[in-house]
Order: sequence, then C-alpha cells, then structure tokens
Amino acid sequence: MTSVKPEDDVLRVVGGSPLEGTIKVRGAKNFVSKAMVAALLAPGVSVLKNVPEIRDVQVVSDLLRLHGVSVDVQARDGVVSIDASHVELADVADVDTLSGSSRIPILFSGPLLHRLGEAFIPALGGCRIGSRPIDFHLETLRRLGATVDKEHEAGIHITAPDGLHGAKIHLPYPSVGATEQTLLAAVLAEGKTELSGAATEPEIMDLVAVLQKMGAQISVDVDRTIRIEGVKSLKGFTHNSLPDRIEAASWASAALATRGDIFVEGASQPEMMTFLNVFRKIGGEFDVRDNGIRFWHPGGDLKPVAIETDVHPGFMTDWQQPLVVALTQAKGLSIVHETVYENRFGFTKPLVSMGATIQLYRECLGSLPCRFRQRNFKHSAVIFGPTPLKGQDIDVPDLRGGFSHLIAALTASGPSTVHGISLIDRGYEDFRDKLAALGAQIS
Ligand code: EPZ
Repeated sequence: MTSVKPEDDVLRVVGGSPLEGTIKVRGAKNFVSKAMVAALLAPGVSVLKNVPEIRDVQVVSDLLRLHGVSVDVQARDGVVSIDASHVELADVADVDTLSGSSRIPILFSGPLLHRLGEAFIPALGGCRIGSRPIDFHLETLRRLGATVDKEHEAGIHITAPDGLHGAKIHLPYPSVGATEQTLLAAVLAEGKTELSGAATEPEIMDLVAVLQKMGAQISVDVDRTIRIEGVKSLKGFTHNSLPDRIEAASWASAALATRGDIFVEGASQPEMMTFLNVFRKIGGEFDVRDNGIRFWHPGGDLKPVAIETDVHPGFMTDWQQPLVVALTQAKGLSIVHETVYENRFGFTKPLVSMGATIQLYRECLGSLPCRFRQRNFKHSAVIFGPTPLKGQDIDVPDLRGGFSHLIAALTASGPSTVHGISLIDRGYEDFRDKLAALGAQIS
C-alpha cells in the first residue's frame, strides 16, 4: 500500500466558523469496490464510471493487478476499465500487505473459485468498530460446495476444483458483505441458490444491476430473499455508480454542526430518505434539486432525536458517527441505539474531552431487536447538548469516526490537530480540497 509521509498525515484545523459552499460527491465506495470485484467474473473488459478517487479504489485496483488483471484508472474522469481476460492466483502475503485495512479480499473468493478453482484469503482488516467476523462468508461458500481450510498460517485456503453448486442459504443477520459474497459466488454456480435474510442496501441492488448486465439471473423478493439461477458464463459490463450516500450525509452533518450551508452536488434523495427524515426532525433544512441536495442550519436551536441504526431501509450505522457531532449541538437529550456494530462509539471519547456530554450504555436504549441485548457492549449513547466544543489533539480511530472528529474540530472554538487523517482518504475523495472550498481554516 502507498505509504503516507507523517507530515501529510496531520491536519491542523481552526474551527468555529460555518462551512459554506458547494462540493461534489461521486460514486459510493461500498458499491464501487464490489463492482470492481464483480469484473473478475467475466473474461473481458468492464467499465465503471463515476468512480471516486479514494484509497479503497486504489487498493482494489492493486489487488486485481496482483491477480494478473489489467486495470486502467482515469482518476479525474472517474472511469476505471478492468480487463479480466487473464486471472492468476496472487501470493497471499502480497494480498495481505496490500489490502491492509480493507475487507475486500474475502469477496474475491467466489470469482477466483470460478476462474481458478481456488482462492487464498488473508486474515481481514476493516475499521475497528467491532469484531467483524467472516463466519457468514465462509459458511456461504461451504454451502455452495467450497472446501474451506483455515489451518494455514498465512490465511484461509478455499477450493472448489469441480465448481460451485446452488444451495439454500439463510443469513442469521442481513450482512452486507455476506449477501455480496453469495451473489458473487452463486451467479456462476450450477443450479439455483436461494438466499434468505439477505441485506438489500442500495449498493447491493446496484451490484445486482451490474451482475444482471453481465448476464446473471437474479430476483429479489420483498421478504429479503434473493434467488439466483446460475448461468454458464458472464460478460463484461459498463455501469455508472450510484452516489455515495454516506459521504453526502457526512457533509450534511458537517453543515448542521457548524451552522453552515452546503450544497452537495451528486447527492440523491431516494437512497437518503431515512437520513433526510432525521435531519429534518433535528431542525436541519434541505432542498432536493435535480443535481444534488442543499443542506443548511436555519438558525436557532437544533432539536434532540432518538435514533436506532439498522440495515436498509433503516438509519445506516455509517450515518450515525457524523450525526452524533451535530447532536452535541442540539438542545436536550438525544439517544442513539447502535444495532449493527457492537463497538461503534469509541469515537465519542475525544468528543467528550472536547466538551461534549455523551454517556455510553450497555442497555438497548431503543425498541429494535438487537443482537447486543444482555451482552457487555456499550452500544447505546445519550448525548446532552448543546455543549460548546473546544479544539484539541485528536487521533483518527476509523474512517467514519475520523470524519466525525474533523467535523468536531471544525465546530470547536480554537485550533485542533487531527492525526492519522490518511485513514479518511479511504472513503472521502479530496476532503482537504472540499473543506478548503467550504471556507474551513485548515493547513
Ligand atoms: C459493509 O461492511 C460496509 N463496508 C460498512 O461500511 C457498513 O458499515 C456495513 O456494510 C453495514 O452497512 C463495505 O461495504 C466495504 P456487514 P460489512 O457484513 O459488509 C456481522 C464504512 O465505513 N457479521 O453488513 O463488513 C458484523 O460483525 C464501512 O464504509 C458477522 O457476524 O458489514 C456486523 O456486526 C464500515 N459475520 C454485522 O454483521 C459475518 O460473517 C453487519 O456487518 C459478517 C458480518
């Protein structure tokens, strides 16, 4: 992975003024990275458009290249062309070094099993927001006929010399990654696959659209069942990515927290409806236009809210972290019940030392069925506001937590130093330039 010079990894922020202006969001990180893996399924050329210039795209491009695939990235134009005519097995140690904090390598399993009959997957990274196991992924692959060998020190060796076959699979929880795993593995498996308890996030539906363009037979029922009829071969695709609704909501939260006014060009309403409802409840205003959404703080007090994160169409876990910073500025008690990850409130500690009043609880402060009930995880937060924040030294813990800390630093009075900002490059395109364009005092 490209190493970052220490001096490039620190951002000095002088907060306290509203962010105002226009910025643009492009394709969704959590779709683009998966669509690039889908390209591996077809021995031809696939073209993905509206691709953001973020580190995760760079990482997946390099992972594909390690597997002998040719990848051409026209970063400024947002176009990635992938020629997967030739595929070979990569050295697992190289994959491990390259993927670092990315969880993408596990999704290479299905395509590699179809193309080569085997896959070798390193231990996986990802943001530090919970234990993030891969048991659903491995069970899915086993049910489709793969043999999973976890005895190797270097990683997990997965084989299917005679190919994969369709199966009935039930996910104990609607995992995004495990749903994508099933799709990528079952499209070329022999026979029918029925996946119940699937996740149906918009990014997954866009992946289904890509696979359909490639020649796959997939239907999605209203009860979260996805049916896949295996086909013999697939062809390359051309596809325009849906916009990044997490990035759009992050900028919206920044507008609210700093009492600002941001037009997020490229933001799209249908995938953000649940967020927009909450944004309005807090007292934020928005205006949906043909080419994006304008978000602003109308003046006066913001109102507190109670939210529970959930799978789609619920309130996304990835929206929670930036919004919590805005909630420190709302008048009264807000409650956030995190039901997707057991450990996603670590980022609140620096907020508290900046002046926020946030208490974490092990109890479920909400009514949604939650896997963390009666378990020892601080997965509910009570935020009391408004509290003035003051600048300080902060270490970025994870991607979304890091962006939240940036928002906190911009909301706070006085200077802050945010360390480890290269982590934010994983999912926020040009965020330094965008902050500057919005009038932020950063260096
Ligand atoms: C994807 O992660 C996203 N990452 C996450 O975004 C996002 O928060 C998450 O989906 C939920 O929307 C990418 O798309 C690259 P999951 P994923 O499988 O697929 C448990 C960001 O900042 N689980 O839906 O890894 C798991 O521990 C990132 O952009 C198992 O128990 O998430 C979690 O509690 C952060 N076993 C829950 O399911 C498994 O085998 C949901 O995880 C898999 C998951």
